Amino acid sequence: SYRIAVLASGRGSNLQALIDAIAAGDLPVRIAGVFSDRPDAVALQRAEQAGIHTAALRPRDFANRLEFDAALFEHIGAVQPDLIVCAGYMRLLSEPVVEANRGRMVNIHPSLLPAFKGLRTHEQALSAGAPVHGASVHFVTPELDGGPVIAQARVPVLAGDDAATLGARVLEREHPLLVESLRLLAGGRIRLGDAGVELDGATLAAPLQL
Ligand code: GAR
Repeated sequence: SYRIAVLASGRGSNLQALIDAIAAGDLPVRIAGVFSDRPDAVALQRAEQAGIHTAALRPRDFANRLEFDAALFEHIGAVQPDLIVCAGYMRLLSEPVVEANRGRMVNIHPSLLPAFKGLRTHEQALSAGAPVHGASVHFVTPELDGGPVIAQARVPVLAGDDAATLGARVLEREHPLLVESLRLLAGGRIRLGDAGVELDGATLAAPLQL
């Protein structure tokens, strides 16, 4: 079966959405391991509860980012994933591990990329006065939050929104967005080609809207 490794740093609600979809028989994927840079991440508890292999490494136990990433990706490689899924993984990835996994690593980001890269995306969208906001699933490349976008989900920004209300509206759409994106990836329908994201062999002109 199609094996994924999940990287997560915190709450793990996106991981939980995957666990639930798999348990419901809605996603033909096996989570081969959950990996974290934070031993106390709730995501790890969710994985353990579901009987999934976990490993956590502490960045401060390593001399630098390159060495941390090398060790982390050795753990990831040991479970032989077909795809690596960053689901709320909040650490920058170094170029060697990104390059080594070109087309085999995706990330979910809480904005309509290329708008609002980086952190505090809901605050960014509100300060910019964006009428529409959302989330994106994209292939990971060395440019932070800059890789080819596979799929997006859009939500309206409503009068009176703050980062919490807007973020909750986005998060609710992130979960099915991630599940659907993984269904397409696991089915071999989505690939990273030379000209960008391909669906069924044809390069996408724009991200899928899910
Ligand atoms: C999600 O909103 C995800 O899109 C975002 O962190 C949250 C994790 O929530 N990811 C990033 O900001 C990546 N830079 P979760 O732990 O409940 O899935």
